[in-house]
Amino acid sequence: MKTDITVAYIDEILRSYLPKTRDKVQQAMEYSLFSGGKRFRPMLLLATAKAVGKRINEGAKSLAASLEFIHTYSLIHDDLPCMDNDDMRRGKRSCHMQFGEASAVLAGDALLNLAMETALKGPLSNKNYQAACAYMFKMSGIMGLVHGQSLDLFSETKTVDDAMELAIAKTGTLIRAALVCGALCGGATEEEVAVFDEIACKLGVCYQIIDDILDSKKCEKSFLDMYSEADLFDHVRLLNSEITAACDKLPYDLTFIKEFCDQNISRKK
Ligand code: IPE
Ligand code: MG
Repeated sequence: MKTDITVAYIDEILRSYLPKTRDKVQQAMEYSLFSGGKRFRPMLLLATAKAVGKRINEGAKSLAASLEFIHTYSLIHDDLPCMDNDDMRRGKRSCHMQFGEASAVLAGDALLNLAMETALKGPLSNKNYQAACAYMFKMSGIMGLVHGQSLDLFSETKTVDDAMELAIAKTGTLIRAALVCGALCGGATEEEVAVFDEIACKLGVCYQIIDDILDSKKCEKSFLDMYSEADLFDHVRLLNSEITAACDKLPYDLTFIKEFCDQNISRKK
């Protein structure tokens, strides 16, 4: 994405909301928070808020940090032995390998709490901001990300529709939170927010398809069980063109979303 919203800028926002303690769990939180994440969710949130509202306001900053805290908690818990049982994350030891299982569980808990504390530091009297907070935590809960993890662990993925539902729930929900919260913070109308949400669902599927292709050795429920790699690339190209068409319906410069699509299809990690 060609945007002045850099990883360093986002890291600065994250640090501004991070408490300073000497707790061992704090070390585990920081280990996972600053271990090379691409930060594309907060980037999408901030870029959307800016495209719609012309500037990045405090509400967008709080929710961008909140979103990355939620994402990081979800990865820490996802790697645990009782979930996906992954020893490595982003080329480093996963949180529980480095700090032990109990610390990793608590680091995840603390990050989810920190996400709420951070969201509550925003402009709570603003109706759009209230709606954005509600959406953020809906998308991270049983109607969103937790449901995605539950489907991944406990449901069979037999049809393409099952695979789509899983991708939207597991990966799409935090991307939906990014675009919808950004749009709300920027002051978008209800109709516009609905278009952003539709775009985000498609981005989620595109992102998960490419993830499955990159991860072809280890993924259990994969789009590759149903389609060849070439067919999947074709499907991502089709979704990308639908996303572009939806972006063009909105009265904002959403070049960053089109660039995100282009980068996703050629990404190597
Ligand atoms: C990985 O997300 C988990 C999925 C939803 C596929 P990212 O690809 O954003 O991981 P980091 O934060 O950049 O490591
Ligand atoms: Mg998983």
